[in-house]
Amino acid sequence: MSRKKVTVVGGGFVGSTLAQRIVDFELADVVLTDILEGPPQGKALDMMQAAKITGTSAYIRGISTANGDYSATAGSDVVVITAGFPRKPGMSRDDLLKANYEVVKSVVEQIVKHSPDCIIVVVTNPLDAMTQAAWKVSGFPKQRVLGMAGVLDAARMSAFVAMEYGVSVENVQAFVLGGHGDEMVPIPRYTTIAGIPLPELLPKEKIDAIVERTRKGGAEIVNLLKMGSAYYAPSAAAMAMVEAILQDKKKILPCAAYLEGEYGIHGLFVGVLVKLGAKGAEEIIQIKLLPEEHAALQKSAAAVRELVTVLGL
Ligand code: 2OP
Repeated sequence: MSRKKVTVVGGGFVGSTLAQRIVDFELADVVLTDILEGPPQGKALDMMQAAKITGTSAYIRGISTANGDYSATAGSDVVVITAGFPRKPGMSRDDLLKANYEVVKSVVEQIVKHSPDCIIVVVTNPLDAMTQAAWKVSGFPKQRVLGMAGVLDAARMSAFVAMEYGVSVENVQAFVLGGHGDEMVPIPRYTTIAGIPLPELLPKEKIDAIVERTRKGGAEIVNLLKMGSAYYAPSAAAMAMVEAILQDKKKILPCAAYLEGEYGIHGLFVGVLVKLGAKGAEEIIQIKLLPEEHAALQKSAAAVRELVTVLGL
């Protein structure tokens, strides 16, 4: 059996950290691409040289796509798109909309030519709209296009719960629905510590603060870093999705998936619980929401819809 192949498009912090995680975990051979000439090759060679020490047999190769040549990505099982302009302090994810649409469009056109059977995982912001763009441009069935955000947002919420309660983050299962934006919908009722719902263990004001901090989790890091945005947790989140797909785990993870009536939302990528396996988004899990949770999800979806409409998707 030959090893699986993953292409990571975009050799910035998220892309290169993701590539490193995949190689270190020996999950697949990796092609790391970037529009720049030199850095993707250099980073890949550096990781290749670390392999002896870290003990992985996976291969990584870096290529520049400045000349438009994506042939090295051919036959990828999964393609993760991280390319795009990052957020700067004070900038919303939505400001990135048009610039990153052009990036995603040109990347996807090339990717599908060389890997017509791949599963696409989008990481570029604004996440849900870029995922919809990738799906539209690819012409792929909805199952084979997903957006990474819920895993990240839930991991952030988990970290804040663990820090607040003074408990191992491994005991925490957080729950976030909706778009990857300021209107995302963390749901404390379905967030647990060792299986115990959060409202049983923390007072409302602490929970409200955790919800608010989760919503602004990305911006908090942008403001601290001053240059660029978060990459350790985003790359770990993308890695979890790639792993679930390549290993056909049938793992339920929150991801941006195409909804056709679920939660009353039609024709839109929004963050929901998805069963991830070798076929991609194999099932969308619908749960009962309280009226206020349902309303918050609709509001979040409306924010995504606005962006998608601007792009004419
Ligand atoms: C984040 O949440 C910037 O969306 C990115 O870190």
